[in-house]
Amino acid sequence: MREKEIYTALPALLVPWYREYKRDLPWRQSRDPYRVWLSEIMLQQTRVEAVRDRYLLFLETLPTVKALAEAPEEVLLKLWEGLGYYSRARNLHKAAKAVAESGEFPRSAAELQKLPGVGEYTAGAIASICYGEQIAAVDGNVLRVVSRVLASEAPIDDPATKKKITASLTAVVPSENSGDFTQSFMDLGSAVCTPRSPNCEVCPLAAICRAKARGVQEKLPKKSPKKERRNEQKTLFLLECDGAVAICRRKEKGVLQGLWQLPCLDGALDAENALAAAADFGVRPTAIVRELHREHIFTHIRWDMVCYHLRCALQDDRFVWASPEALETRYALPTAFRKFLEI
Ligand code: ADE
Repeated sequence: MREKEIYTALPALLVPWYREYKRDLPWRQSRDPYRVWLSEIMLQQTRVEAVRDRYLLFLETLPTVKALAEAPEEVLLKLWEGLGYYSRARNLHKAAKAVAESGEFPRSAAELQKLPGVGEYTAGAIASICYGEQIAAVDGNVLRVVSRVLASEAPIDDPATKKKITASLTAVVPSENSGDFTQSFMDLGSAVCTPRSPNCEVCPLAAICRAKARGVQEKLPKKSPKKERRNEQKTLFLLECDGAVAICRRKEKGVLQGLWQLPCLDGALDAENALAAAADFGVRPTAIVRELHREHIFTHIRWDMVCYHLRCALQDDRFVWASPEALETRYALPTAFRKFLEI
């Protein structure tokens, strides 16, 4: 079977399976967008079993979007207690106020996405479940199922992979029951096409699944290899003289190129060698105020830094001597270095 035919075959296999085996979940009793929206927000990053009772209690207390919009924040946060990711609750409140003010719920995925806390997936899920919009809602479950059924090795954390799968699925979303198609992936992903040890014997897609045919279902989906970060040791100097601090420009190559920095040497110098190096800078160090250790993570490099805060007697002009105010307002000093200024 060609890839396009596999996509085309999905609705006829998934929708009847879903109708027969779907989980009995409280948010599946109604297509009221308030109820469905609330469930989708609660289910973000949270397991179905943790949501079930909270969802019912929430709706008993705040049965309409108007009630939610008018509720004091403490009431809402209390209802959210234990679910975590509290920004979801705050976004929910903001969105409810916007909906209550406009007088009606947004009626398409594009409009839903304008609500705080509603991303592409959540908008697609609500629009397909409540309004039958022909739109795919692609989350990790969908990416896993599709990668397996196509035996695709394309890394699922690559936005291009998600884009392609979304477009291909959107083209085959059935004109009726698009919400059942959406939710079939959720149930298949949670009970059958699970991340580990998938239950292929009971899968409605078994007959067309390339991964099963090749025995590679447990090896899919693929993710991009995590790049190793290399460690680098750096010795920094917080050279202080008459209330000013020495800064200089980084070279025009490598990380933070051309930006300002605290004087910096490669390697981890001990205090004695650091003092000797500072003497070579021509700043006549008089005392070590303190020695601080910090790390900084870049995408591909981890800096392991030691910084010597030295009181100095001379402002050598190989450095710019910046006052605390100038450091705040004038010089762009990257976070890696600011870590030593805050103390
Ligand atoms: N996970 C996210 N949305 C869901 C839904 N509507 N039903 C079951 N699990 C889900």
